[in-house]
Amino acid sequence: MPITKLVIHQFRNIHSATLHFNKQINVITGDNGSGKTALLEAIYFLGLGRSFRSHLSNRIITHEHPEFILFAEIDEQGVQVPIGLKKTRKGESILKINTRIATKLADLTQHLPLQLITPDSINLLSGSPKNRRAFLDWGVFYHDPLFYQTWARIKRLLKQRNAALKQCKTYNELQLWDNELCFLSTEISDQRQRYFQQLIPLIEKTIADFLPEFSIKMSFFCGWDNTNKSLQQYFIDNFERDKQLGYTTAGPQKADIRFKIGSYPLADVLSRGQLKLFVYALRLAQGLFLNNVNNKKCVFLIDDFSSELDQSKQQILAKHIIQSDAQLFISVIDKNHIENLFEQQCSVFHVKHGKITNID
Ligand SMILES: Nc1ncnc2c1ncn2[C@@H]1O[C@H](COP(=O)(O)OP(=O)(O)O)[C@@H](O)[C@H]1O
Ligand SMILES: [Mg+2]
Repeated sequence: MPITKLVIHQFRNIHSATLHFNKQINVITGDNGSGKTALLEAIYFLGLGRSFRSHLSNRIITHEHPEFILFAEIDEQGVQVPIGLKKTRKGESILKINTRIATKLADLTQHLPLQLITPDSINLLSGSPKNRRAFLDWGVFYHDPLFYQTWARIKRLLKQRNAALKQCKTYNELQLWDNELCFLSTEISDQRQRYFQQLIPLIEKTIADFLPEFSIKMSFFCGWDNTNKSLQQYFIDNFERDKQLGYTTAGPQKADIRFKIGSYPLADVLSRGQLKLFVYALRLAQGLFLNNVNNKKCVFLIDDFSSELDQSKQQILAKHIIQSDAQLFISVIDKNHIENLFEQQCSVFHVKHGKITNID
């Protein structure tokens, strides 16, 4: 589902732009501060209804202007689906999909599966489990139509349970929440586990090329020790502790995926550049899975492509990215840095002080 057209109005330093994209590779060039990341951010905002740089829409609207508007056309098997999003400084937000007002962000996300890679992306490995859950759930979301609903229900139940924990005297008073919570938690953990198991061979195939010198072990942790205990039993055994802490210490909200070399966490062994390559391997695997299994195409937003990677790694990476058959948006400061890497089917855009021109 490539983006064929994008119209930007008052987004960061981009006052106005109408762009026609290549269905495969789009390279965005320009000096520091010209607006390359802003362009990627605009695409990201359309796909997820939020930014990866700021939680505050007011920071994103062009200074001294009342609103930003984004409009895109997405090619879904030959049919152009229009998507529009407006945000005002007063906090109003209007989303239109196929000319109809949409209320759920998940509707937007269904139309535009995005993978973002920036110099900060190694947070996926070195940061908190929350990042890795988000990674995993991205894939499960597209794989299982009911996932979103189940997960939303679990989050609500957990909130109610945590509030009840603070007031109740005996475990029995929590049963009301726990019966459903345990049932749904087991369901969602199975979904996550199955998805991750299927993803592992795809990740391994890529890292055989990216990091051939390492043997990396990957495992899924469902959020509680389920080897000889059910979640309900865990809740019963940990009632006093949870009550003291005031929140639920185990469950799918604590799930994680773990990567190790020998007995060390990956983030302790690899260099920043190597970690970045591993993040690429993870995200490329998800793109391939989406393509092969879910028959959907992914859009990759890659900010600062050449940062921290040597020439030979860039070459291997470019080969894999092209093979992934996703639509790509790649920002680099100087086009010459990657000229030989993406020769085929490539459009080049140059950004200067927020003005974007298609130069190739
Ligand atoms: N809300 C805003 N209104 C106007 N300009 C902005 C706004 N937010 C950021 N900028 C400016 O937009 C420019 C684009 O930055 P950025 O997209 O990060 O550039 P690049 O990725 O090309 O280095 C910066 O110079 C920044 O100061
Ligand atoms: Mg930038």
